[in-house]
Amino acid sequence: MDISRDAPIGVFDSGVGGLTVLDELLVALPAEDFVYFGDTAFFPYGDKSPERLRERAIAISDWLLGHGVKLIVIACNTATAAALDHLQRACPVPVMGVMAPEAHAAVQTTRNRRVGLLATVATVDSGSYSRMVGAHDAGVEFTSVACPELAPAIQDGDPFGHEVADLVRGYVAPLREADVDTVILGCTHYPVVDKLLRRALPGVTLIKSGEELAREVAESLARRELLRGADREGEYSFACSGDPAQFATLGARFLQMPLGDVLQHDPEEG
Ligand code: DGL
Repeated sequence: MDISRDAPIGVFDSGVGGLTVLDELLVALPAEDFVYFGDTAFFPYGDKSPERLRERAIAISDWLLGHGVKLIVIACNTATAAALDHLQRACPVPVMGVMAPEAHAAVQTTRNRRVGLLATVATVDSGSYSRMVGAHDAGVEFTSVACPELAPAIQDGDPFGHEVADLVRGYVAPLREADVDTVILGCTHYPVVDKLLRRALPGVTLIKSGEELAREVAESLARRELLRGADREGEYSFACSGDPAQFATLGARFLQMPLGDVLQHDPEEG
């Protein structure tokens, strides 16, 4: 299949968390067009089985491919852990996920070789981060903390309220105990509460998916000669499987850029 450099880039997540990746992509690649899908009706991904997440990821990728995308970004750690390999084998365009760039950055960043992870239950259970960090430096002491309530509290509650602040304090306690100097934010929802996390983990470097991945996407498109010329400003559009008005309100708050109309679509209805 011939991939056109003028095609958009497809991005998906279980909801609004992937917008923390999209905003880095919009800044790193201002000339590109993007189509974003938030699977809000199926949120949260963190408590679903890998098999079910794979089915969902396939349906969403088919929808993105129907929009003629030239590259797919899985802007969700949980979906990356469950479906990256499968989508890379099945899709006719490159598929990139979060996780590998952060694991690499964490190993390069740590000075005391103690690295922490905050992520969903599904991501921690997959063991992917621990394997990736170990592949870069088997001597790193790795401490993971599953945070089952954090992404739902950010997406469905008040992300900047007391409940989230209390959750953050509780979830980081084992990382403080383990004396980590570097923490991977292994869920794309967490950078939304970056300030709470930084306050709860003073002196610790936080590794975020968006920044690392945006660099890799730009490099990958450049190497494949698929980057658009810089003489234009790209467009971006949004769809979600749940309530579009709710997505638009929350999304605009997280993205800090205009969102426009949000289309509603059920990926498993084709
Ligand atoms: N944003 C997703 C991730 O990066 C997780 C949130 C969820 O549980 O759906 O893992």
